[in-house]
Amino acid sequence: MCGIVGYNGTVQAAPLLLEGLSKLEYRGYDSAGLAVVNDKTGNIDIVKAKGRLKILAEKTDDGRAMQGTIGIGHTRWATHGEPSIANAHPHYSDDRQVVLVHNGIIENYVQLREKLEKNGYTFYSETDTEVAAKLIHYYYQKYDHNPIETLCRMMYRVRGSYSLGILFKDRPGELYAVRKDSPLVVGVSEDEKHPGTFIASDVTPIMKYTRHVYYLDNYEIACLKSDSIDFWNIDREHVEKEPVEVKWDTQAAEKSGYEHFMIKEIHEQPKAVRDTINAYVKDGQIDLSETGLTDDFLKSLDQLYIVACGSAYHVGVAARYVIEDLTSIHIEVDLASEFRYRNLKLRDHSLVIIISQSGETADSLAALRLAKDKGVPTLAIVNVIGSTIAREADHVMYTLAGPEIAVATTKAYSTQLIATYLFAVEAARARGEITQEKADEMVTEMQTLPEKIERVLNDKDRIQWFAAKFANAKDMFFIGRGLDYAISLEGSLKMKEISYIHSEAYAAGELKHGTISLIEKGTLVVGVMTQSKLFEKTRSNMVEVGSRGGYLMGLTTYGNYSIEDTVNFTVYVPKTDEHFMTSLAVIPLQLLGYYVSCAKGLDVDKPRNLAKSVTVE
Ligand code: F6R
Repeated sequence: MCGIVGYNGTVQAAPLLLEGLSKLEYRGYDSAGLAVVNDKTGNIDIVKAKGRLKILAEKTDDGRAMQGTIGIGHTRWATHGEPSIANAHPHYSDDRQVVLVHNGIIENYVQLREKLEKNGYTFYSETDTEVAAKLIHYYYQKYDHNPIETLCRMMYRVRGSYSLGILFKDRPGELYAVRKDSPLVVGVSEDEKHPGTFIASDVTPIMKYTRHVYYLDNYEIACLKSDSIDFWNIDREHVEKEPVEVKWDTQAAEKSGYEHFMIKEIHEQPKAVRDTINAYVKDGQIDLSETGLTDDFLKSLDQLYIVACGSAYHVGVAARYVIEDLTSIHIEVDLASEFRYRNLKLRDHSLVIIISQSGETADSLAALRLAKDKGVPTLAIVNVIGSTIAREADHVMYTLAGPEIAVATTKAYSTQLIATYLFAVEAARARGEITQEKADEMVTEMQTLPEKIERVLNDKDRIQWFAAKFANAKDMFFIGRGLDYAISLEGSLKMKEISYIHSEAYAAGELKHGTISLIEKGTLVVGVMTQSKLFEKTRSNMVEVGSRGGYLMGLTTYGNYSIEDTVNFTVYVPKTDEHFMTSLAVIPLQLLGYYVSCAKGLDVDKPRNLAKSVTVE
C-alpha cells in the first residue's frame, strides 16, 4: 500500500519518477505526487494530483515541467485522511526545508502532532505523514542540520511502520531513506543512459536500471548520492551491505500487448507453475534441501498452522485438505488478522507456515513474529525475494511467479498452491505415509499441470461469452465441498474484488442452513464438482438451488457429462490427481471474474478501494 520512489542522478528526475510510480501504482492509486529539487532555484518543487497517476503526468507534462535531477514520488492508498491534494504526498515542513514521501502508518501521530503544535508547528493535512515531515524538521533544527542524528531521533520517537524518502533543501546532492516494517529497496543504476541511484517500495521500478539491489533493514538509513549509497544503523554506525541479485525478467513487469496485467498474468500461469515445480524437483524427486526442511524435521511434525490473508489464505484452505489427506499431521488454517489475536496454545512439534506473495503483508508478518516469539519454527511461502517475511522466517520456499502487478492475484496464487503440494507430498514421503513410488508418481502428475492449465486457457472464449451474460448480476454464489469449497472461496473472491458483484462462497452442504433464501430467479450459482467422492452430493445441492430459480454453472472434469442434465452451463477441466485439482479448476473462475469485470468496463488491474501488498493492519 502506497508506493514510493526516489532518484538522485544526472538526468531529469521527474519523468523517471513517473515511470517508476507507474510500476508501483498497484500499491495505491487515489492520489500521487512528485517533489524535485529545482536545479535553478535550489527550491524543492512539489506537484500533487488527486486520482490516478495519469492526472499527475498531465499536470507535469509527463514530468517535463519539473526541472531537476533529484526527486521523490508517491502513489497513495489512503489510510489517514481522504484522497485529496492536501493529503497526497509529498508532505513537507512549512519552510519546505524537509520534504518526504511515506509508506506505512505512524501509530502515535496524534501525540506527536500535539507535541509539535506545542512547539509552534501548524498542520495543513489530516495525514500521519505530515507529522513525520514536521518531526524531522524539528530534530533537524535541534541537531544542527545533521541528517543522521535527526533520522535516528525520529526513529526513536515514531511508533508504527514506515519507509520514507526524504529531501533536505540544504543538502541538494543527497536523498535519504529510512525504513521500519515497510519495504524499501535501493540500487545504483548500471544503465549508462540513466546514471544515478534509486529508492523504491519494490524492485519493479528499479530492475530496468540495475540487477543488483540492497534491501534496507529495519532502523537503517541510506544516503543516496548520484553515484553511491552509504548506509547507517540506528547507533549511527556505518553499515556495509551486500547487494542481492534480481532474477526477475523485466518483461514480466510490462503488459506486452495484453489489455490488462491480470489477463497476461493468467496466461503466465503455466510457466510460473512449471518454474516453481522445477525449482524444487530434481531428477523427478522433490528436493527441499534449499529450504532447510529435513526429513527428520518433517517426521517430527505433529501440528501445522497455516496462516495468511485473502487468496493466500484460500491456498491454505486448499492445502489443509491435501496435507490432511496425505499425512497424519493436525492442521489449523487461520486468517493472519485473526491468528494474531487468538490466545492459541501453539503445540510442540509444530510448524507455522506463512503464505504471502508480497512477503510484506502486515498481518501475516505479525503472525510470523508471534510464532517466532513463541519459539515455534516458521516456514514462509513467499514470492518476493528479500521481502520482510522471507528474511525473518526460519525456512523459506520461494514461489517463482515473477512480478505480479494486477491487484487481483492469479499466478502467485497458482504457484503458492504448487508450493503446498510439494510440501505435502514431501512430508508424506519423509514420514513414510506414502511410498517413494507414490511420491514419484504424484510429482510426475504435478509436472503435467502446466500443460493442462494451458488447455483450460484455450477454452477461454466460452467463458468470455458466458461472462457477458452476467455483467449485470446482483449476486452470485460459488459452492462446493472439501477441496471444491476451497476453490469456490477463490472463485468468489476473484469475482467480487474486480467486478463489484456481491458474491459468496459456501460449503455446498451449508447452503440450506440459511443462505438458500437468497436464491432468486436467475441468481448465478457456480457449483464446483471436481472431487469424485463429493460429486453426487454437490450435484444434489445444485438441484436444490436450481429448483428455487438459480441459474446453474457446473465446473467439473471431462467425463462427468451427466452434469449437463442438472446445470445450464458446464465448464470442463482435464483430470489430474484430485489433490491437485484446485490448480485447474481455479483457472475458469479467474477468467470468469476477469471477463465480467471487462464486460462492465471496470478497471480490472486496479479495482476500487484495493491495493496490492497490504502493509497496514
Ligand atoms: C486477492 C489478493 C489478496 C492477497 C492478500 C495477501 O486477489 O491478491 O487477497 O492474496 O492481500 O497478500 P500477500 O499474498 O501479498 O500476503
